[in-house]
Amino acid sequence: MKLRFDFNNMMTAYVGENGINESEIADLEAQIEKAEKAMVEKRTNGGMDWRELPYNQAEVVSDIKSYVESVKDDFDAFVVLGIGGSALGPIAVQQAINHPYYNELSKEKRGGYPKLYVMDNVDPEKLVSLFNIIDLDKTLFNVITKSGSTSETMSQFMIIKEMLEEKLGKEESKKHIVCTTDVKNGNLRPIADTEGYKSFVIPAGVGGRFSELTPVGLLPAAMCGIDIEELLAGAAYMDEMCKTDNTFKNPASMYAILNYISMKKGKNISVIMPYADSLKYIGDWYAQLWAESLGKKYDNDKNVVNSGQTPVRALGATDQHSQVQLYSEGPKDKVIVFVGVDKYKTSLDIPKIYGDIPSLGFLGGETHNKLIKTEQMATEYALLKSGQTNMTITLPEVNEFTLGQILYLFEVATGFAGELLNINAFDQPGVEEGKNATYAMFGRPGYDEKKAELDKRPAK
Ligand code: PA5
Repeated sequence: MKLRFDFNNMMTAYVGENGINESEIADLEAQIEKAEKAMVEKRTNGGMDWRELPYNQAEVVSDIKSYVESVKDDFDAFVVLGIGGSALGPIAVQQAINHPYYNELSKEKRGGYPKLYVMDNVDPEKLVSLFNIIDLDKTLFNVITKSGSTSETMSQFMIIKEMLEEKLGKEESKKHIVCTTDVKNGNLRPIADTEGYKSFVIPAGVGGRFSELTPVGLLPAAMCGIDIEELLAGAAYMDEMCKTDNTFKNPASMYAILNYISMKKGKNISVIMPYADSLKYIGDWYAQLWAESLGKKYDNDKNVVNSGQTPVRALGATDQHSQVQLYSEGPKDKVIVFVGVDKYKTSLDIPKIYGDIPSLGFLGGETHNKLIKTEQMATEYALLKSGQTNMTITLPEVNEFTLGQILYLFEVATGFAGELLNINAFDQPGVEEGKNATYAMFGRPGYDEKKAELDKRPAK
């Protein structure tokens, strides 16, 4: 069950002058070596604790599994309150593994697990609408926040805590809240401890968008019947694949190097296009990881440089009828990443009818599986022909093991790309600026200076 990475269509030999020459990779030898060394050093000395997650969580996994077993019968719905790195992974994994209409299945058909809802916005209409369809008595809320202070998540928690206590009383409502947060920092940890909520820990050295393989993602996944040990085993398998010194055989290094060279040539858009509905939300998760990690401003001695690629989410075959015209004939400022699947979870035959209409009858007797695969190959070809650089990641099947591989692949590739760009891939000053401005505008104590700075902005 090994994921495959095909980057032929990135190379000049295949795609023509818009592609990359092997000599361009050879020219980067010193920079690549430096990046490899930095990756090893950070892994050893701290700074990339997420790399160890596939190996160091036996106790966490066991705690999660026994907690899930002890509560799953009591609840019909499991609601995640989180945003960004505390929401996108849980959505992506659940959508990839479970039935596409999971929430609409009976509890029995869901394997006895509750429905999953992820509230990752503060749009009042959305949360109020959720209250129209869930029964508080039968709902467990998972508050996920690494910092323990994010306004969106904490305000949702405040609303729900009060609703629960009004309806069920303080003691009973404790059973309806489980927290996932830092071991000591932030507001949520002391709240969880004081109120007596069950809680899980996000390891200190693991940042939001790299936290899917911590309880951030593992608890919601296990709560929906997903095999979290297989997810971690897949990540460990990919880790092994990423250990080779042969750069051309190392999927994470190659992914990063090819995108790095592309960025240097002005290809500042990274399109992720899975050919499977189940993988659509992997695109959302990837978008945050790639954008927030690599979109950075840095000084290169002479001037300020802005790095990063803008991620675009597309879905095959749907977006063939929406975006592919642009990818084919529009500006050559993109790298298209196809994500394909060899074996879909089901097979669907197209009936052998309309044989008398040759322009329709040719579909009869085939399968949707063959059609979507062929469309993917045809789109890859169309882009190749037009000189649009593209690469393909193929999952033999979408299951926990292959999903663990692709998540870990993208994480390592992001770390490696950060080293090549010589930026800190693990901070997010631009996001913090917005968070701080919100605090200042909302009158949070300690933000007077920021408020004064904001008040000087041009009036609209
Ligand atoms: O990657 C990140 O660090 C961010 O996107 C966070 O995940 C996001 O801002 C939510 O933060 P928190 O988990 O602290 O509530």
